[in-house]
Amino acid sequence: MKAANGKTIGVVGAGAMGHGVAQILAMAGHEVVLIDIDDKALKKAEEKIRWSLDKFAEKRRIRQEDADAAFSRIKTTTDHKTVASTLDLVIEATPESLELKKNLFTELDTLIPQHGILASNTSTLSITEMGKATTRPEKVAGMHFFNPPQLMTLVEVIKGDKTSPETVESLVTLANQLGKTPVVVRKDVRGFIVNRILGSVFNEAFWAVNREEVTREGVDASVKYSGGFPMGWFELADFVGLDIVYEVGKILHNAYGERLKPCTQIIEPLIKKGELGQKTGNGFYDWSKGRPRIPFSLLEEFDVDRSWAVAVNEAAWIIHDDAADPEDIDTGMKLGTYWPSGPCEYADRTGIDVIVQQLQALHKKYALEIYNVCPLLEDYVKKGWIGKTGERGFYK
Ligand SMILES: NC(=O)c1ccc[n+]([C@@H]2O[C@H](COP(=O)([O-])OP(=O)(O)OC[C@H]3O[C@@H](n4cnc5c(N)ncnc54)[C@H](O)[C@@H]3O)[C@@H](O)[C@H]2O)c1
Repeated sequence: MKAANGKTIGVVGAGAMGHGVAQILAMAGHEVVLIDIDDKALKKAEEKIRWSLDKFAEKRRIRQEDADAAFSRIKTTTDHKTVASTLDLVIEATPESLELKKNLFTELDTLIPQHGILASNTSTLSITEMGKATTRPEKVAGMHFFNPPQLMTLVEVIKGDKTSPETVESLVTLANQLGKTPVVVRKDVRGFIVNRILGSVFNEAFWAVNREEVTREGVDASVKYSGGFPMGWFELADFVGLDIVYEVGKILHNAYGERLKPCTQIIEPLIKKGELGQKTGNGFYDWSKGRPRIPFSLLEEFDVDRSWAVAVNEAAWIIHDDAADPEDIDTGMKLGTYWPSGPCEYADRTGIDVIVQQLQALHKKYALEIYNVCPLLEDYVKKGWIGKTGERGFYK
């Protein structure tokens, strides 16, 4: 049965992301079928959803009866075949494997109604490839929620090569209806917006530590206390999970070459020891007693302008690739990672000419591809589009 104005939505994969996505869909009035191959995962998901809904009610963000109604809108099953024909939309949140996701979409394509949309919550994989595994590539798109979906407001909506504007529009509408802020990634570029820009700042800082120019505590103290970011880069990598940072790093390297070459030297030894960050209690830092203490006294060890410079450069490459607009890039970084400012608005405030000079000086010193100035920035400076003091910058 459909809820008023609602859709019946299947969420495949009831893990860290899937259970949260199912919950917010149900809170917005949709009938949800949460599907997993593992019965225990479904039981655990139900417990977590119940707990989270009660927390929302306890904090008076929703009424208890609405929490109960949302919970009752979620059904669970290990047998997707029996429910597939009722689904207007499927959002898959299975493990990050292209083979797995392609096989799943190939099968669902034969089972869901003709109008049904297949969306993937993948962090990095190709939406176009997933579309090719179906007979309806125009109805396949990315819908990338951030963790935890119940609290994070950003959703990246990703267009594959064949995704229709109607499909993008319908996922944008859904995201808005869930109370989220969607940003559209017009091209199926690896890392989309947020992971791609984060990848560049992680690499830059990790290589600097690897060269023993600065300590990781020095980087993190400077990023937090001088730069005003909520977490240092090493702390954030631990928080995300070093296995995920490592995998995303490899995918970005394959896609963008030397410019986004990850510093595997400092992550691999930790992964080999099973020290994956916060979730295992150890990573770059010891998390066994809670969040690591980053010494305030080191706040000048690292020049945070370097992080900004490579972030602005990568943002320029995203625009150069025609994958997203400055507004969406800035919104993505502010809502997806709580940056104090988006890279494009930062560049316009600082002066794009100043950023270009910083990148050129860093390139002269280290001869690394990451500091090679994006042609878009060079072009802007040539035209006098340097930001606030010029006619325009990233923004008019
Ligand atoms: N965890 C994050 O921070 C995060 C953030 C954004 C996006 N993502 C992406 O979301 C997706 C899911 O990540 P996660 O962290 O929730 O994974 P997870 O490992 O916590 O959960 C995956 C679930 O999928 C189930 N599953 C495996 N194969 C299945 C199949 N064939 N059919 C149905 N269920 C199946 C597993 O039993 C498990 O419960 C990945 O693509 C990931 O890249 C993760």
